[in-house]
Amino acid sequence: MDYLKSRLNPDISYTALGKSTGLAQYVDVQSPWLWVCLGSVVFNPVFWNTVARNEYRNKSMTKIFGGPYNGTYVLAVIIFSLGIIRDLIYERTLLAQPVSPILATPLVRYTGAALFVVGQVLVVTSIYALGITGTYLGDYFGILMSHRVTSFPFNVLENPMYNGSTLCFLGTALWYARPAGVVITAVVFVVYEIALMYEGPFTSKIYSSAAAKKRSQEIKSTSTETAKTLETKANAAISSATPSGTSGTSSGTTTARQPLTSSTSYARAAAQPASSSGSGSTNPKPVPGLQELGLGAPVASPQPRVTRTRSRAGRVVDDD
Ligand SMILES: *[C@@H]1O[C@H](CO)[C@@H](O)[C@H](O)[C@H]1NC(C)=O
Repeated sequence: MDYLKSRLNPDISYTALGKSTGLAQYVDVQSPWLWVCLGSVVFNPVFWNTVARNEYRNKSMTKIFGGPYNGTYVLAVIIFSLGIIRDLIYERTLLAQPVSPILATPLVRYTGAALFVVGQVLVVTSIYALGITGTYLGDYFGILMSHRVTSFPFNVLENPMYNGSTLCFLGTALWYARPAGVVITAVVFVVYEIALMYEGPFTSKIYSSAAAKKRSQEIKSTSTETAKTLETKANAAISSATPSGTSGTSSGTTTARQPLTSSTSYARAAAQPASSSGSGSTNPKPVPGLQELGLGAPVASPQPRVTRTRSRAGRVVDDD
């Protein structure tokens, strides 16, 4: 907010800096700030990707900070701070760069403001949609999202956070009427595109290997099918024992059990709280407490669920 407040009236009087000729008229490559800024632009995604991949392989931050959630939050603070530092450097850099008379018009300026606002909206709504752990690489810590986020802005853009950040750079460049800002934005864009090429497949790999693990665990529990068969038989027994009514249904329905279809009992079994099975954690969502203790797996073992289904089918049989 300070960022905005102090910069609502930028100095875009280009007379002071516009004395040079040639390329230096637009971009002062001799300004050290320009190189510090480019360094920061490149450094940030390299940093978070390096740390995240190391985390996926070695779980270093998880160990140091006592759990994947703590690790993710610490990384979130670091990445967020690096972003603030980079933005401050960017602003400082722009102020040391020449103003272009082409850009120093109200139209360009307000276009810049609009782009900045759109960019901020994309970034903020992305963070809101993904949550802190989803935004700040929690998946590399083993905190997987249970489903793909499809709400705004992910319904309009594939990588709204990167698009939003790029728009903020461009908007700021136009606001300050600095061509150097447009050049830096182009570098930001390229750096983000490379980061996405690098991150995208890796994130997919994390999710597909987690899904494969879950599937193989489910295949192992073939007893689920046995339970299902038992239940079907039980239901058949119930319906044959019940005079499948025409006229005598009034007294019949009050006492007769409605046959459970396999799907309804499954839905009910799934809806049962994990504790009712009495066999420990069956919650398929990551449990922070367990995660921190290193006990909870992001993908729950389907074993307890099998027990639950079997016991449920058994109960149907026992009751009759
Ligand atoms: C932004 O979004 C478009 C798709 O609308 C995409 O092609 C582009 O590469 C994205 N990336 C960045 C960094 O802006």
